[in-house]
Amino acid sequence: MSRDKSLVVDGVRQFFGPKNSRVQALSRTDLVIEPGQFVCLAGPSGCGKTTLLRLIAGFINPSEGQITVSGSEIIGPGPDRGVVFQSPTLYPWMDVASNVELGLKFQGVSKDQRRADSERYLQMVGLTDFAHRRTYELSGGMQQRCQIARVLASDPEFILMDEPFGALDALTRERLQNELLDIWRKTGKTILFITHSVDEAVFLGSRVLVMSPRPGKIVFDEPAIFSKPGESIAAEEIRSLPAFLELRERVRSSIQHSH
Ligand SMILES: Nc1ncnc2c1ncn2[C@@H]1O[C@H](COP(=O)(O)OP(=O)(O)OP(=O)(O)O)[C@@H](O)[C@H]1O
Ligand SMILES: [Mg+2]
Repeated sequence: MSRDKSLVVDGVRQFFGPKNSRVQALSRTDLVIEPGQFVCLAGPSGCGKTTLLRLIAGFINPSEGQITVSGSEIIGPGPDRGVVFQSPTLYPWMDVASNVELGLKFQGVSKDQRRADSERYLQMVGLTDFAHRRTYELSGGMQQRCQIARVLASDPEFILMDEPFGALDALTRERLQNELLDIWRKTGKTILFITHSVDEAVFLGSRVLVMSPRPGKIVFDEPAIFSKPGESIAAEEIRSLPAFLELRERVRSSIQHSH
């Protein structure tokens, strides 16, 4: 099967808390993510976006239904799925480069190769000068960039990103958007990217999903044709296309009307 690498969310519902006061975070959700898709997920705060990402990452198991990759059920985290969290999770006692190299170390990559990889990704996220600082010496945005470098360096098949650029200034955000698009175009990785920015979702995604308020349900699912693998169009050019503006408007109104 050519689609055997798909990630399939099949009849998943998610509840939290004890039986008598449980909260439903996700309505029944069915979703197929094909290899190489760049899926952007937007929706109001508390609608269950992070919950869906945590389920796919394998940090929690679904209350109902199942999630499979290549036909095997996800029962925990794995090296095939790298996660960039909403707030950075770095090891404060290690320097920046060691944090980036950590996943590679677990994979048994040689020291020289690890150094070369970390240098490459630290340069990409603009942290070369901070490679030997401890992470607590970095600002929040810099920690976030370090986290992104770490996930990219470990080269997972699926990159799961939870509002990774939310804490960054506009210029850095735009630069990292372009870098991420570039990486995606070159590597064909499968990306699930959560964002509150409709503009970012439509700009980055090859597919845009919108979730309704809790208990979350996917209410909008359309291809976004602006960023294609193997093809690079200038960011300003994409953002001024009538079709881009039109889709952005429809995504915006779908979020508003889902309330
Ligand atoms: N571990 C948990 N225990 C209890 N309730 C939880 C837990 N995790 C999430 N929830 C609840 O599930 C709902 C969905 O949360 P989730 O974090 O998935 O939302 P979100 O869409 O990511 O929101 P935001 O955009 O603010 O990050 C919320 O009502 C939240 O309180
Ligand atoms: Mg969230």
